[in-house]
Amino acid sequence: MSRIRIFSGIQPTGRKHLGNYIGAIAQYISSQERGEGIFCIVDLHAITVAYDPAELRARLYDTTAILLAAGLDPGRCILFRQSDVHEHTELTWLLSSVTELGRLQRMHQFRDKSIAQRELVSAGLLLYPVLQAADVLAYRAEEVPVGEDQREHLELMRDVARRFNARFGDGKEVLVVPEHRIPEVGARIMDLQDPTRKMSTTGGSEQGTVYVLDEAKAIEKKLKSAVTDSGSEVRRDPDKPGVSNLIEILAAVRGASPDAIEAEFAQARYGELKTAVAAAVVDYLAPVRERFQELRADEAALESILAGGAERAGAIAAQTLGDVRQRMGVGGTRR
Ligand code: TYM
Repeated sequence: MSRIRIFSGIQPTGRKHLGNYIGAIAQYISSQERGEGIFCIVDLHAITVAYDPAELRARLYDTTAILLAAGLDPGRCILFRQSDVHEHTELTWLLSSVTELGRLQRMHQFRDKSIAQRELVSAGLLLYPVLQAADVLAYRAEEVPVGEDQREHLELMRDVARRFNARFGDGKEVLVVPEHRIPEVGARIMDLQDPTRKMSTTGGSEQGTVYVLDEAKAIEKKLKSAVTDSGSEVRRDPDKPGVSNLIEILAAVRGASPDAIEAEFAQARYGELKTAVAAAVVDYLAPVRERFQELRADEAALESILAGGAERAGAIAAQTLGDVRQRMGVGGTRR
């Protein structure tokens, strides 16, 4: 039986946070046990908003080292840099011909990010979801582990795949329509200072964002000053976004259910919950931070891992592109 193919991408912003870790990275690690994992650091997505070229490269190494420190094993998965595999950009162009413009203009991320841009709103920002579709479809991946905020992007790529197959497939599933895999617990970790907003590198508050590379002291401080809600009962409730978020974080980090956490803290006060969450998150992230230091120091080794990954990824993507070009009638005929 062939193994399920799993693909996901992550932006090289370097300052990866607890939301990224719980919502996505933890799933990448476990997917190595379940199938053929392909993980891509998406530097071409990062250039769609204002950025600094030298910093982008540095952050790319940070992200690579974080993923390796978290447990991605290049012997058991493919880890590579998006811009090293040219098929992603070619497929973006080819797929743009089966993507509806109005749909791209209505995407939440495009609307939010274009409002936030002070200078240029680039065409790249509009095409961002098509590049993301190309990332996944180039590998004919069946499953895409992501956090809740990627749901709309997943819907779009499923649609693009279906449209491509309907237009060019001649009854065949040339491109695989992928399924998202969003975790049951921790799919949307919220900002600790403003628990009505998701934890994020760009939109959140510094004090409300726990970074994967934060020192233990900083993690404790952030969690202990997390905003909680009125009342004193430790339970999830739409009116208690702060407490609900802490319960969710503790459940995810311990691999327990939120119900079990509520039962354990039924008699406790908010302060006790915060202390427990802080201790659990420190223990959760400490080994990653330690391994990171060593891995990040050797850029040549990181480059060599990425190059090896790109070679393996490129071999898979080239096959898909060969089929897509042929179906679309572009390029020479294959022998
Ligand atoms: P990015 O780099 O913003 O985020 C990486 C992953 O982290 C998840 N995530 C969260 N999960 C839970 N709580 C949060 N607060 C939180 N914040 C972020 C995201 O859902 C994501 O899974 N467009 C993508 C990158 C991408 C991609 C792809 C993903 C490019 N190509 C192909 C999947 C497949 C992004 O910007 O993720």
